Amino acid sequence: MRTRPLKVALLGCGVVGSEVARIMTTHADDLAARIGAPVELAGVAVRRPSRVREGIPAELVTTDATALVKRGDIDVVVEVIGGIEPARTLITTAFAHGASVVSANKALLAQDGAALHAAAEEHGKDLYYEAAVAGAIPLIRPLRESLAGDKVNRVLGIVNGTTNFILDKMDSTGAGYQEALDEATALGYAEADPTADVEAFDAAAKAAILAGIGFHTRVRLDDVYREGMTEVTAADFRSAKEMGCTIKLLAICERSKDGASVTARVHPAMIPLTHPLASVRGAYNAVFVESDAAGQLMFYGPGAGGAPTASAVLGDLVAVCRNRLNGATGPGESAYAALPVSPMGEVVTRYHISLDVADKPGVLAQVATVFAEHGVSIDTVRQQGKDGEASLVVVTHRASDASLSGTVEALRKLDTVRGVASIMRVEGE
Ligand SMILES: NC(=O)c1ccc[n+]([C@@H]2O[C@H](COP(=O)([O-])OP(=O)(O)OC[C@H]3O[C@@H](n4cnc5c(N)ncnc54)[C@H](OP(=O)(O)O)[C@@H]3O)[C@@H](O)[C@H]2O)c1
Repeated sequence: MRTRPLKVALLGCGVVGSEVARIMTTHADDLAARIGAPVELAGVAVRRPSRVREGIPAELVTTDATALVKRGDIDVVVEVIGGIEPARTLITTAFAHGASVVSANKALLAQDGAALHAAAEEHGKDLYYEAAVAGAIPLIRPLRESLAGDKVNRVLGIVNGTTNFILDKMDSTGAGYQEALDEATALGYAEADPTADVEAFDAAAKAAILAGIGFHTRVRLDDVYREGMTEVTAADFRSAKEMGCTIKLLAICERSKDGASVTARVHPAMIPLTHPLASVRGAYNAVFVESDAAGQLMFYGPGAGGAPTASAVLGDLVAVCRNRLNGATGPGESAYAALPVSPMGEVVTRYHISLDVADKPGVLAQVATVFAEHGVSIDTVRQQGKDGEASLVVVTHRASDASLSGTVEALRKLDTVRGVASIMRVEGE
């Protein structure tokens, strides 16, 4: 074993960074044996230096992250600050000054992954980010390495623990969205500003990363169709239950049937209770990967939290350190397929539509005609009448999103349709 240690600069020492530092210290001997050289924490950049940080020697703490990554003797920079800047500049500066980088920053990777990979390649360095998607769950490495000889056709999963906690609460208690969110906030599952989670920005960033790696194609954040879950109601859950379904916020990345294009989307969807994703409870994450040769694979585990996320960071750290000792780099960006990303209108799936209609003869026929005119075939219809008004629940066969949008637009123009109460996609069948 080499005795000279590999030097690690830790950028950020919050929820994730503090756990990375703790595991680096408590597992130092094991890490050294696995890597073939000891790893040494050479500096820790933070914003508030006076904060007490257990187990971190005060002399290692600095507020000057730029000087730390420019030192020239750093082997690996672990970026767990989050956000776009200064993280982006610090990472590119690290490459330019000879370090490889491990990051947990999904927002940055989804937005600027291509440029960061190019910078890593230019300087012959590694960029690893297992922790950026689904916390502790190994997903990036299986896609990038284990399935490198297979053809991935679909990635479908729950990649945000906060929203899964909220939806699970609504499902199990009958609570409305706000009540479930309040509980998630009180228990620390939701941040004070939950926008990134509930409006699905976080899940969209993860979908962009997964689609890019799975399909060997650059998928930008803007390519991902995004719909949050703030409008899911207790009534939607009652409807879902009547169909033997529950509701999950899903990230879905698919290759088209002819293989010539891909789509990536994030939205709430009904899935059958018999689907394995339906039983993913609380803040857990789970991702299905479907590929030509392997068939269906499911990855399940804690998608966030300090220690679980640090586990993924440490796994990357070991891999990057090994590469470094071997004078090699691991796999970089693979975007050779360069498939076009199709718009949401071309996505084909099933729909559950709930309409408020006038309770009089002929309404059902009128509604059915609109569906037929737009080429959307109806699977089932359920009608409940009350005091001259009725609710009509239509479940369709598979149709394109564009056809469904056209149908809904035409339905809204019917005098007998008082309103479209909800539209939800039905997945996983
Ligand atoms: N938390 C999770 O469960 C989780 C899961 C998966 C991925 N991630 C990702 O991991 C990253 C870190 O998340 P986190 O939850 O650990 O965040 P956090 O608790 O807010 O910690 C951020 C850390 O960065 C430091 N920092 C902020 N701005 C800085 C600057 N300009 N210069 C130097 N240091 C700065 C902060 O310093 P102070 O301590 O002085 O404030 C803090 O130590 C993010 O990219 C996040 O998306 C987090």
